[in-house]
Formats: sequence, structure tokens, C-alpha cells
Amino acid sequence: MGGPSAEREVSLSSGRECAAALRVAGFDVVEIALDSARGDEIVRRLGDAAPDVVFNALHGRWGEDGCVQGLLEWLDLPYTHSGVLASALAMDKTRAKEAFRAAGLPVVESVIADADEVRRRHVIPPPYVVKPNDEGSSVGVYIVHDGANQPPALSDDMPARVMVETYAPGRELTTTVMGERALDVTEILTDGWYDYAAKYTVGGSRHVIPADIPAEIRAACLDLAVRAHKALGCTGLSRTDFRWDEARGLAGLIILEVNTQPGMTPTSLAPEQAAHAGIDFPALMAWMVEDALC
Ligand code: DAL
Ligand code: MG
Repeated sequence: MGGPSAEREVSLSSGRECAAALRVAGFDVVEIALDSARGDEIVRRLGDAAPDVVFNALHGRWGEDGCVQGLLEWLDLPYTHSGVLASALAMDKTRAKEAFRAAGLPVVESVIADADEVRRRHVIPPPYVVKPNDEGSSVGVYIVHDGANQPPALSDDMPARVMVETYAPGRELTTTVMGERALDVTEILTDGWYDYAAKYTVGGSRHVIPADIPAEIRAACLDLAVRAHKALGCTGLSRTDFRWDEARGLAGLIILEVNTQPGMTPTSLAPEQAAHAGIDFPALMAWMVEDALC
């Protein structure tokens, strides 16, 4: 848990929750909170702990993008969630979309552009969203509304190349996949945008589970989440986020992204869906560890 990504605090929260639940499930747990971006720190601390299996509670760069997975492959240590390729693919939103398109799954159009150009002019007509190609938790997301005159004032710490995506209006839905089983559909209700604060503040959003949506849309979310998980080659747990433009019916349902290291914090969606499916947090942990070992 921890690490140097923009989602460090989220990861520390996920890690603490998972460690507590793993203990309840009967495992011996050594918590490793990473403070640096150094691979040798990870190798040394894993060497000291000598685990049978690594529970990966990292989010974002280095921990969710195939890097730590590659290191664990070198160390011949089994680990939870997806492997190197699926992790790297899912983290690169543009390449993930290409894989979804090839599998016939619905996504919205986007382009990769120089951040400086995005600051100067509308590179596609508004409304659109600008985000890093490889971040999570809504870090660095800018929404440019319909009719906006000005291009977005991107902060200096945005990457040099960013993703500019046609704004997909609609309701916020999400589905967790455990192996090949889609658990449920949750609708996320917020007063405004489902941003970092809304995601991790208790009471910052309301989760409706199961979502109050037509059976056809529910079935489509469950099906698409499993197909998206498979299209990237994911293993273990993943969570697929959707937008649904109700006015357009089934045609209004699109995949925003697949998260290969879904949040496990007290306000997170995946553990909540598991609980709703009758799988409590310790049971979910036990399944993830078993899955990592097989
Ligand atoms: N990126 C955060 C952790 C999530 O998808 O839940
Ligand atoms: Mg995400």
C-alpha cells in the first residue's frame, strides 16, 4: 500500500481496510506501506516479510500499471488482481479503449493532445473532458461545458500529453467483476461531479444498490463488465465504470474505464457490491488470496 502515485492516500486507506479484513479471515498479514518510488525498497521489504502471496493494495502509477506486477513476476511471488499486461492496458485509457472497440464494446471518442495546445484552444468541440491518460480517482479531470468560450486552464502539473474525450452525459453506474462473475450494478448519486472529494468523503456521494434502472440496462452492465474484464485480460477483481444517457436507451450506455485495482476504502464501491451479493469483506479477501494462488 502507499507508494508515490497521486492516489497514495487512497491506497493507504485501501491497504488498512484490506489488512484488517485479511486478519479477520485468518491470514497472517505483514503491512508494507511504501514511502518511496524505489524498487529496491519493495524487494528488501518483501525479502524480510517472505510472504506466500502479495495482496496488492496500490493504486495508480507504479502499482496499478503493470510495474509492480512485473517486479513480483521477477520475484516469483503470486499477487492479487491483474497481471502485467492487463494492468498496463487498463491504466492507459486510450489503449484500453482500442481493446474495447476491437471487442465491440461501447466507448466515447477521444484524442490525445499536447496539454499546451489544450490550454490554447478547443481541440474538439465542447462539451468535453480533459484528463491524464493514466490516472485514477478523478485526479486532474477538467470538464469543459457546452458553449464554453475558454479552453480549460490546466494546472502546471498535468502531463505534457492529455486525453480529450467527448463528454458523455448521463447517470453514473458501476459493476464489480470477481473472476468471471459480475456482482451488481450500483448507481452513484452526487450533488455535483463525482470528483476526488465526493469519492472519498463519507457522505460525499450516495450509492444506490442495486441501481434503479431498467432490467435491460442492468443486464447490459453485467454483460459488458465481464466482457471488458476479459477484453483486457484481467484476473481477480476489477470494476467497470459506465455512463448511461437515459434518453438514448441502450445506445446511451458507454464504458468509461476498467479499474484493475478498485478502491477498497470505507467509501468504495467494490466491497459494497460484494457485501450486497452476500460476500462480506473477509470472505472477499479470502477469495482474492485463493484466486491469486491458483
Ligand atoms: N482508482 C480508484 C482507487 C478506484 O477506481 O476505485
Ligand atoms: Mg478509475
